[in-house]
Amino acid sequence: MTLPSKVRIVEVGPRDGLQNEKTPVSTKIKVELIRRLGKAGLKSIEATAFVSPKWVPQMADNADVFAAIEKLPDVAYPVLTPNMQGFEAALAAGAKEVAVFGAASESFSRKNINCSITESLERFRPIVEAAKTAEIKVRGYVSCVLGCPYEGEVMPLAVADVAQALIDMGCYEISLGDTIGAGTPERTKDMIEAVARRVPLKKIAGHYHDTFGMATANIYASLQMGIGIFDSSVSGLGGCPYAVGASGNVATEDVVWLLTGLGIDTGIDLDALVDTGVWISKQLKREPASRVARAVIARRAMRAAQPA
Ligand code: HMG
Ligand code: MG
Repeated sequence: MTLPSKVRIVEVGPRDGLQNEKTPVSTKIKVELIRRLGKAGLKSIEATAFVSPKWVPQMADNADVFAAIEKLPDVAYPVLTPNMQGFEAALAAGAKEVAVFGAASESFSRKNINCSITESLERFRPIVEAAKTAEIKVRGYVSCVLGCPYEGEVMPLAVADVAQALIDMGCYEISLGDTIGAGTPERTKDMIEAVARRVPLKKIAGHYHDTFGMATANIYASLQMGIGIFDSSVSGLGGCPYAVGASGNVATEDVVWLLTGLGIDTGIDLDALVDTGVWISKQLKREPASRVARAVIARRAMRAAQPA
């Protein structure tokens, strides 16, 4: 089996990571986090979400964050837009890439964006149309691809249906979200197989939360299926406010370590990434969740303690 020679990592920490924080995170810290991630070599950094501040107050400073980011020329800074109101605000802020987010489960769709799956697709259509006119790229998310916090099991065919609808609409890429991190490698493969019958493999991304510690195993399974795009979050930050109990995304540090070990170059400086994870964890008053980061820190301390 041949693994992809190149992998693109989409850093979602500043959005997925910070949208669920109980203590407010200042705009300044968010902007600094994005700057550090760019310096570490991330080429796609999901910056914020133009969602309702009543639903997700953590993202209420979306326009301020977007305006203050020092935009590196070779880095994309996508933002979430659930409806035309969000899209128009993102456009006014100067966004060049947006993401619409649907779900493979009816209950999650209602809890997260207050509409059915069908209604959500009708809501996304004008966004994709307007984005085309404005020459803005649109990424499509499907949540609950390996389980729903309200309905339990989700059928691969239900995931494929929504993924296909989003790709047919004009999304350039579909990110498959294991929102509650319930997936295991074989189930991940079955789900990808169903989606890949409808969406070209090159346009599929894996977005795995690490609630049960299976995210890197699921990434490895996805690589074996030919997937070459993964979303992750520095220091494993994250969770969804509408998926209680779900933990953070797979840590970007862990993904970089896995890929490097497989001989796949990511262009990301692991040391700079670990430093960024340590920095943001300190701001949030917690230890880095990434096992790789903790091991790198321990190795550094051991080396520093050795006589020259
Ligand atoms: P609604 O209440 O049905 O919206 O929410 P509405 O259209 O009826 O409007 C109600 C009020 O919200 C109005 O204000 C609107 O102006 C305002 P009022 O007149 O009452 O003062 N409003 C907005 N304000 C700012 N920006 C907007 C916007 N839209 C309406 N864009 C809505 C529907 C979609 C807005 C709401 O449900 C929402 O914002 N949901 C977002 C939830 C969210 O962000 N969840 C987390 C992201 S998804 C995720 O984490 C999963 C993912 O990571 C993948 C995975 O892991 O699976 C992507
Ligand atoms: Mg997520």
